[in-house]
Amino acid sequence: MLLLHPIIQGVSIALALSALLLGLQRVRSLHLQQQVRFRRNVHVRLGMVAVGGLLIGAGVGLAMTRYAWGRSFMTMGHGVGGMITLSLFLVGGATGWILYRKPKKRSWLPAVHGVANAAGVLSALHQVSTGIEVYRTFATGL
Ligand code: HEM
Ligand code: HEM
Repeated sequence: MLLLHPIIQGVSIALALSALLLGLQRVRSLHLQQQVRFRRNVHVRLGMVAVGGLLIGAGVGLAMTRYAWGRSFMTMGHGVGGMITLSLFLVGGATGWILYRKPKKRSWLPAVHGVANAAGVLSALHQVSTGIEVYRTFATGL
């Protein structure tokens, strides 16, 4: 049961990384004028599942700490780090939704979207190391 949160987050981070790799194709075609194909629909689907999974996973993490200790945010920055990660992905997800639903020629909104999500991926990778630390420190006591 304790592994539920790390498993959901691990899978979601892998999907987010794949979405990022596809997004980089768009960086090449939009900003670097290179002739590469951007698999837009696959990117959007992967991105939505990744962001949704991270949200659900963070909810499970919060529920677990509340259930075990009666309160949350006692995990040495991992909980706060999770909120920062989610904020970045919320900006990324909202801008992505606009880009998807109202396609037109733009350059700054895709850039905001790409930077927010790329920062989200970096922050999520940092969560892996703090998360492992939390697991090592508290798992037996939870
Ligand atoms: C892990 C999540 C995601 C990552 C890492 C990511 C990353 C990126 C990157 C790097 C770009 C290229 C931006 C640029 O060239 O300036 C991009 C483009 C795009 N993304 Fe995402 N994205 C994610 C999620 C989403 C989601 C959830 C949606 C839709 C709901 C979405 C829709 C789009 C669209 C439509 C474009 C093309 C923009 C255009 O052609 O103007 N992305 N993404
Ligand atoms: C695979 C990497 C991760 C590992 C190993 C991990 C590990 C943990 C552990 C052991 C806990 C304690 C409760 C529980 O086990 O459910 C926890 C809580 C939590 N995690 Fe993670 N985590 C990871 C990734 C993430 C990510 C990417 C996010 C955010 C997007 C996140 C957000 C949270 C939050 C918000 C809590 C509740 C913290 C609190 O109330 O203090 N975690 N995590």
